[in-house]
Amino acid sequence: MSDDSRDAPVQRLTPELAKRELARLAAEIARLDIAYHREDSPLVADAEYDVLRRRNAAIEARFPDLIRPDSPSQRVGVEPASGFAKITHARPMLSLNNAFDGEDVREFIAGVRRFLKELQDDPAIPIEMVAEPKIDGLSVSVRYESGSFVFGATRGDGMTGEDVTANLHTIEDLPVVIAAGVPDVLEVRGEVYMTRNDFAALNRQQEAAGEKVFANPRNAAAGSLRQIDAGVTANRPLRFFAYGWGEVSAPLADTHWGCLQRLAGWGLATNPLSRLCSGGDELIAFHTEMAERRHALAYDIDGIVYKINRLDWQDRLGSVSRAPRWAIAHKFPAEKAITVLRKIAIQVGRTGTLTPVAELEPVTVGGVVVARATLHNEDEIRRKDIREGDTVVVQRAGDVIPQVVTALAAKRPRASHPFAFPERCPECGSLAVREEGAVARRCTGGLVCPAQAVERLKHFVSRDAFDIEGLGGKHIESFWKDGLIGAPSDIFRLGERTETIREREGWGEKSLENVLAAIDRGRTISLARFIYALGIRQVGQATARLLAKQYGSLEAWRRAMEMAEDRESDAFADLVNVDGIGPSVADDVLAFMAEAHNREVLDDLGRVLAVEPYAAPETRASAIAGKTVVFTGSLASMSRGEAKARAEALGAKVAGSVSIRTDLVVGGADAGSKARKARELGVSVVDEETWLGMIAGS
Ligand code: IVH
Repeated sequence: MSDDSRDAPVQRLTPELAKRELARLAAEIARLDIAYHREDSPLVADAEYDVLRRRNAAIEARFPDLIRPDSPSQRVGVEPASGFAKITHARPMLSLNNAFDGEDVREFIAGVRRFLKELQDDPAIPIEMVAEPKIDGLSVSVRYESGSFVFGATRGDGMTGEDVTANLHTIEDLPVVIAAGVPDVLEVRGEVYMTRNDFAALNRQQEAAGEKVFANPRNAAAGSLRQIDAGVTANRPLRFFAYGWGEVSAPLADTHWGCLQRLAGWGLATNPLSRLCSGGDELIAFHTEMAERRHALAYDIDGIVYKINRLDWQDRLGSVSRAPRWAIAHKFPAEKAITVLRKIAIQVGRTGTLTPVAELEPVTVGGVVVARATLHNEDEIRRKDIREGDTVVVQRAGDVIPQVVTALAAKRPRASHPFAFPERCPECGSLAVREEGAVARRCTGGLVCPAQAVERLKHFVSRDAFDIEGLGGKHIESFWKDGLIGAPSDIFRLGERTETIREREGWGEKSLENVLAAIDRGRTISLARFIYALGIRQVGQATARLLAKQYGSLEAWRRAMEMAEDRESDAFADLVNVDGIGPSVADDVLAFMAEAHNREVLDDLGRVLAVEPYAAPETRASAIAGKTVVFTGSLASMSRGEAKARAEALGAKVAGSVSIRTDLVVGGADAGSKARKARELGVSVVDEETWLGMIAGS
């Protein structure tokens, strides 16, 4: 880094120099903070430290647009020893959809062809793909600026992760400085992992020292990376493979393969087994080969990731609910083991669903000890005729819940009898009914059912909802039992009950302080997380995001839901028209809102916290931003899927049917009744060419 920025008076800095200087100051102050707060060994005198902070503040005052997410001014002091600072990823860290067999893989490729219309039209165009081992570790993002490692973060929820800069610094596969020729900004993404040998050695060492042993190499890698004291991480043998990138100031190459090669050229470890393939057969052959070789590798892999090689195609394909359309993980077949099923227990979930769970003689499956497995539902148990006391086959695939596959009839004890699924809730005794067409039996006890109440609260504080670290399931259960928490809002009043909590077993000053701090952080929450936290049936993260995007604020959403109770209303039409929400989800949302008790919960929460309105992702200014568009008929230049994705990227909402709220209908070749209806309603209808003109250049 040049010294012009470092020494120049703030008034003389150009934006370019200011940007560099802010990056340097953020890294430098973070380094000093860690030494001071976490290692208790200050590297500079306080006065010198203050000079850096003041300079950072002065530059930010002059260039507010350049304030960095990891700026020292944005951090409230230094995180307590219990946690890490948060880092918002410059580009979200996506996850992957899974394929479990060759057919899923072919369907994935067919989907790509359908989306990229020219490939659909000409099946002879080959689709090159990169096949990479799927490393079983944890993903991180590491940011280099002007070739220097500035910070690194865990994936977290994909949008925000934990600042593990100091810990990542200890990993040898991650250079601190990389060669000339790198873009000014380069975020490298990849997997931190531990080899099997290193894992075994670490566990021996842990055991000898009377410390915690890890269940598998992945847990060991995660536990080692998330050490508050980076000195501990330094003694753990962590490795890294780069497989992608986040923000980059200049493109690395035109293809994924080309990018991997550039990363490798800069000294970043990339997986030597990755292969460039053309077509599904080659991918599947590679998968078969690796499934045989995986046990001989030094590290765990749990499948193969296939990625479309051309980056322009990746861009056009984009992503849906946090997973790219241009990549898929082809998992290895599940690992199996035989054991005895001791008992079939019935769990009651937060929406009252009764789920049968097999309690097993513990058995090792694919390196993990399994003592419980899911039995799915009543019909499944009957179909497979699984009984208590049976010898059963259990299987585990990746991180999915272990399942009971089948019972071995030959080994069945004589006195056995078919399992009778309970018709009453085992938790509250209320009737458990099966609605028509439903697979699950549900407890009708609502909130009198302790299981439902407690499960709802657990969901409320869970990671993807309010993320209240330190308030685990066990605490919720015992607080609920003792009347400290009844409704969700009570969580935000725990600060008034510290005396009572302090007297309880297992609560120290520090843990209480940490939980209260985590609760306070939860007092501002995004609308999407808030909606998800409510635990409405069928409203998972993706649907919650759709609702947040559609309605913008909590008040607007509530108002619209109230109006939508009238099924004839426009508000109802708008709700079912949101792409991704159908009548069945709409029913569940409205049923939730129709209950006075739930509305009270919402009012009550409104008094103790602030729900932030939906922040629309940055969309380029365009003529169609904020408009509701409907596509009808087939377009010649792109598939319906791509048209929709393009429109949304430009800030439009895409609806499935025409109503008075529609702003624009784009009619393809055989546009029929929708175009007619639009004309009747006075909504403008344009042809494909006009549409392309409208979106051109944006
Ligand atoms: S690509 C947008 N490539 O798998 C692409 N992921 O199930 C995102 N993983 O969170 C990931 N090896 O932790 C990719 N060669 C590889 C991978 C890989 C392991 C992990 C990664 C990701 C998870 C998704």
